[in-house]
Amino acid sequence: MASNSVIPQLGLGTYPLMGQEAEDVIVMAIELGYRHIDTAQMYGNEAAVGKALRRSPVPREQLFVVTKVDPGSLSAQRFHSSVARSVDDLGGPVDLLLIHWPPADSEVDAAVDRLVSALEEGRTRHIGVSNFTIALMERAQKRTGGRIICNQVEFHPLLDQSKLLAAATKLGITLTAYSPLARGRALQPDMVQEIARKLGRPASEIVLRWIIQQGVAAIPMSRKRENLQSNLNVLQFTLREEDMAALTSIGSAAGRTVSRASMSGRWDN
Ligand SMILES: NC(=O)c1ccc[n+]([C@@H]2O[C@H](COP(=O)([O-])OP(=O)(O)OC[C@H]3O[C@@H](n4cnc5c(N)ncnc54)[C@H](OP(=O)(O)O)[C@@H]3O)[C@@H](O)[C@H]2O)c1
Repeated sequence: MASNSVIPQLGLGTYPLMGQEAEDVIVMAIELGYRHIDTAQMYGNEAAVGKALRRSPVPREQLFVVTKVDPGSLSAQRFHSSVARSVDDLGGPVDLLLIHWPPADSEVDAAVDRLVSALEEGRTRHIGVSNFTIALMERAQKRTGGRIICNQVEFHPLLDQSKLLAAATKLGITLTAYSPLARGRALQPDMVQEIARKLGRPASEIVLRWIIQQGVAAIPMSRKRENLQSNLNVLQFTLREEDMAALTSIGSAAGRTVSRASMSGRWDN
């Protein structure tokens, strides 16, 4: 488990998998040992995820399924019907429901209140947020009386998220790392390649291990059996403190891969 949390440390990202391909990759991942599956209303693949969950021989209660409410569905009119559709497509209540992107500041509290009602109505076992800054995490945690368990954010060695991680830890919130390989970019730096060569492991395993060894969960996406398998190997070894520190030293504010116009000027770094 990631620090302080019920969230399995390694999960499967499902964006941009769709339809039959999404279904087949998820069934394969569960067969290999994945128990944490990440989807979102925005990805348009919740029905395919639901089919994969039904096809898989692993009982649903052994899986941890995460989905996210689309930014266009946070309003009073849309929130509850959109969540009902997600729950329907996914074959029952989810394990973790997130607000995918923070709305405008004036709408944050109302969106967080709707998340709490989804929890109280039994549509999800846990609630959380995604792409929330330190100030927004603090605000959501206060508003919910400490019920936010997760903030899913971009996290890999190229991006310095140390302040966000320290603040989340203080609030009892686990970070989940999205784009944990920076879509391949995080495998390229000399420092990553050098540590990979020294340890005789692929660069992807070095990057993912650096993430989970900080108590952060990671949800790499892969369509390939060998990469899905390799990504699971990171649960089996540890990095020495000097290698952890060397990887941390390559992060900067410029390393971000994913953003939205609505976040301009809002990120912590
Ligand atoms: N909350 C948010 O706003 C948000 C934003 C973005 C993403 N996400 C979530 O995070 C998940 C992961 O992020 P991502 O898909 O953007 O990026 P990612 O996981 O960093 O990178 C995916 C890429 O890495 C490759 N890859 C995976 N394992 C590999 C390995 N062992 N060796 C070499 N290459 C490997 C994959 O190619 P192959 O298929 O060839 O292996 C794929 O091209 C998404 O699927 C989605 O669920 C959330």
